[in-house]
Amino acid sequence: MDQFFISSPLGTEELLLSELEQAGVSVRNKANGGAYCKTRPLLALELLLTSRVASRIYRELSKFSISNEQELLLKSTNWPWESLFTLDQTFKVESSFDREAKRRFRNTLLLSQKLKDGIVDHFRGKYGSRPNVDTKQPDITIFMRIEQSTHNERRFTVRILQDLSGSPLSNRGYRRAIVHQAPLRENLAAAIIMLSNWKKDQEPLVDSMCGSATMLIEAALIKYNIPPSYLMIQEFLEENKGPWSFLNHLWFTQDSALKTGFDLLVKRLNQQTIRGLASAKPGTFFGYDNSVPSLKIARDATNRAKISHIIALKKECATKLHPPSGKPCTIVCNPPYGERLGRDDELAHLYHQYGENLKQSFRGSTAYILISNSQLRKKISLQTKRRIPLLNGGLECRLCEYLLF
Ligand SMILES: C[S@@+](CC[C@H](N)C(=O)[O-])C[C@H]1O[C@@H](n2cnc3c(N)ncnc32)[C@H](O)[C@@H]1O
Repeated sequence: MDQFFISSPLGTEELLLSELEQAGVSVRNKANGGAYCKTRPLLALELLLTSRVASRIYRELSKFSISNEQELLLKSTNWPWESLFTLDQTFKVESSFDREAKRRFRNTLLLSQKLKDGIVDHFRGKYGSRPNVDTKQPDITIFMRIEQSTHNERRFTVRILQDLSGSPLSNRGYRRAIVHQAPLRENLAAAIIMLSNWKKDQEPLVDSMCGSATMLIEAALIKYNIPPSYLMIQEFLEENKGPWSFLNHLWFTQDSALKTGFDLLVKRLNQQTIRGLASAKPGTFFGYDNSVPSLKIARDATNRAKISHIIALKKECATKLHPPSGKPCTIVCNPPYGERLGRDDELAHLYHQYGENLKQSFRGSTAYILISNSQLRKKISLQTKRRIPLLNGGLECRLCEYLLF
């Protein structure tokens, strides 16, 4: 068993916990933006490929306490880094601090530097030579989290973690060409679908301002039980390469049982994908946008995702829509929100008209609208059933649920 930290967007922690529970992983501690857990390495890799909300997965290497910079240098010099990577591999150090640690150490960069110095000193002491730092594409990313100790306020707990993911797990791979100007992260889009009460086996799903169709694509993956990493898995099986940094880690490469388990896992998940894609049928997913360039990006993304045949896309104004199949549906929407797109007066009018159209044309349906601006939210004259706080690219938002009677 190893210890891991799994991060996910703020506000999606409960979804992450239920994914972990379903996978049979025991959670040690909940945290803001993630969870600490203890599990078998292969199960952690399975989560890396199958979690819809995780952003990154880290393996915990060490946990100790310090009260000053020198202590960090000493403890990191004594850690057996050669068990993690070799002299010819590159590395980078990233850090995060809680409020108390930031206040105590002030120059947090200096602490990252100390950890890096400790690693370098360790290799130099042992081999007379050191591995290089690469801040862009390192083989190993070492992540340090410093928090005030719960037992002694003068001491700080340091956790040293190794990032297994490489690029963020939200990068599913269907968004490689042109990118929409305000896209949702794919794992946040999946979280919105999971937070909704959409009945995936019987209800149509409408995204009234679909942009690059992220929510519809994620919903289709959920409906057909296709793992979020499916495109990466196919690339891995065809070209024997993948975006996950653990593929280069000694932790993985030196464990032949883990490698064999991983090979079987990707094959099993690929079979699951083949079955899911074969059963995917049109009639459930409907995306609308009034911008031709947005729809072009959406088409490109659904093509790359290999599900363009099941996602109907149409140029239409969201204030004039009707249920696509005449029956009640679930509506999701991530309207433009001032900070990035659109002008205030126009937006106020758009939000109001959009709410009025939902009221008149979508009786019996349920709508989920992701809104960051409370003034704009008030322009929708519908009663809110639930308001779920979420963080979207640094913006505090609410996912508002409206039951349309
Ligand atoms: C924030 S973006 C949506 C991003 C999307 N969720 C994604 O992941 O790419 C808002 C979208 O609303 C569209 N839009 C703005 N006004 C609209 C209207 N009246 N009718 C339909 N779409 C509209 C914009 O063209 C833009 O693509």
